[in-house]
Amino acid sequence: MKSVILATSIAGLLAIARGATHDLLVGTFVQKSIYTLRFDDKANTLRLVGNTSVRAPSSWITLSKDQKHLYGTDYEYIVGQTDRTDLPRYLSFSVRNSTSIVHEKTLKASHVCNGSSIYIAQSPFPPYNVYGADFWSYPGCGNVMSVDSDAGLDRVVQDFRYGLPESSVHGLDFQSRGRNRRLYSADTHGNAIWTHEINTVRGTVVVRKPHMIAGPSAGANPRHVVAHASGRAIYAVMEGSSEVVSYALNGDGVPLRASATIFSILPPGTNLTAYWGDAAAISASGTVLWATTRARDPAANGFVSAFDLDPMTGAILRQNFLVETSSSGGVANAVSPSQHDGRVMAITDNAKGFVEIWEMSKTGDSVKVVAHLDLADTGNSRYKSGCCANAVWLPSGGGRWRGDE
Ligand SMILES: *[C@@H]1O[C@H](CO)[C@@H](O)[C@H](O)[C@H]1NC(C)=O
Ligand SMILES: *[C@@H]1O[C@H](CO)[C@@H](O)[C@H](O)[C@H]1NC(C)=O
Ligand SMILES: *[C@@H]1O[C@H](CO)[C@@H](O)[C@H](O)[C@H]1NC(C)=O
Ligand SMILES: *[C@@H]1O[C@H](CO)[C@@H](O)[C@H](O)[C@H]1NC(C)=O
Repeated sequence: MKSVILATSIAGLLAIARGATHDLLVGTFVQKSIYTLRFDDKANTLRLVGNTSVRAPSSWITLSKDQKHLYGTDYEYIVGQTDRTDLPRYLSFSVRNSTSIVHEKTLKASHVCNGSSIYIAQSPFPPYNVYGADFWSYPGCGNVMSVDSDAGLDRVVQDFRYGLPESSVHGLDFQSRGRNRRLYSADTHGNAIWTHEINTVRGTVVVRKPHMIAGPSAGANPRHVVAHASGRAIYAVMEGSSEVVSYALNGDGVPLRASATIFSILPPGTNLTAYWGDAAAISASGTVLWATTRARDPAANGFVSAFDLDPMTGAILRQNFLVETSSSGGVANAVSPSQHDGRVMAITDNAKGFVEIWEMSKTGDSVKVVAHLDLADTGNSRYKSGCCANAVWLPSGGGRWRGDE
């Protein structure tokens, strides 16, 4: 609870102090690059300041908790691929500064999954293992990786299976409740949210008797799940029904079906099958939940919505707005809340290949684009642009943030 209050006051203070630059790293679907972008929060400009060549595109990237490493997926999907029999792969980079990103290791799972890496996230709890989810076809697999003393990926310590024949997990998050540490998994094709216990010593997933909660309707298909820092709520965004569902957690960290509250991220009367829900992410202050959906028609626009959260319980207080995004989003429209200002976030687009910075009004009732940068590069038959999968914000301070070492 203390950390939530502290985060709120830091976000409040930082929101006042304008005139700084903030760097983001952006992953890709096809182009073998990691882009470094610089956002100036006074001039409202977004510039490309780095283009690091990498051995594989990462359709999902995440920073390590100490922000000195970048973890990424390693797989480029080509239309029509099924029954893959490659081992899922995950990448680890050292982030020396915002434009010096050095590949350290590629890890391979030891079991063949009928799919490939789609998502990667680090647990906030010792031993700070990193968890991967495998997607495409019906793989139903996850991987647990240990980190070395410097937080780089070390080795695969566990491969595990989810329980349904259709299982195919696209998003993960973590929670600590009471003595329990939990892994939440959004199982898109299984239309379920899994809650697994995590072994507190080894950081492995306890595969026996996981808890499963079905999606709110047939074909809702949870895509991403995020846990609130209070330890009392999780939220899932549904790919099939373009909805945000919030669940209160019991004392053991298990989501309660009866507590599910459902909000649409489409205007009333919209044809559901023309959209596919995408991302959900919580502001650093713990007070705003962002969610997006994508349009399947490249000529139509997706939508972004925000929800005010109770910082103590994670309960959704209201749906602040529902606004069209600047494009369909392609397969992206991922949303990344900034660390420096609770009202600012980045959206990535893959239909054209761009990144935008959006800012919510002071009252929280509206949101607008404040900066835009095109990053068009080479795509393939599935991805219109090779670019713009998801973005992560680096600690503020330009390239000098590791300068003290
Ligand atoms: C992969 O999934 C397909 C269904 O899409 C199934 O027919 C096939 O048996 C699976 N292969 C393996 C190795 O599990
Ligand atoms: C809904 O959208 C889908 C996909 O774009 C389309 O095939 C279908 O015809 C639409 N249905 C209606 C009633 O407009
Ligand atoms: C990044 O660099 C690669 C390799 O030189 C190049 O193909 C790509 O177009 C560059 N991306 C952008 C957005 O300039
Ligand atoms: C980042 O690191 C590279 C390689 O060490 C160095 O050339 C560059 O000047 C650094 N950039 C900043 C802004 O410190």
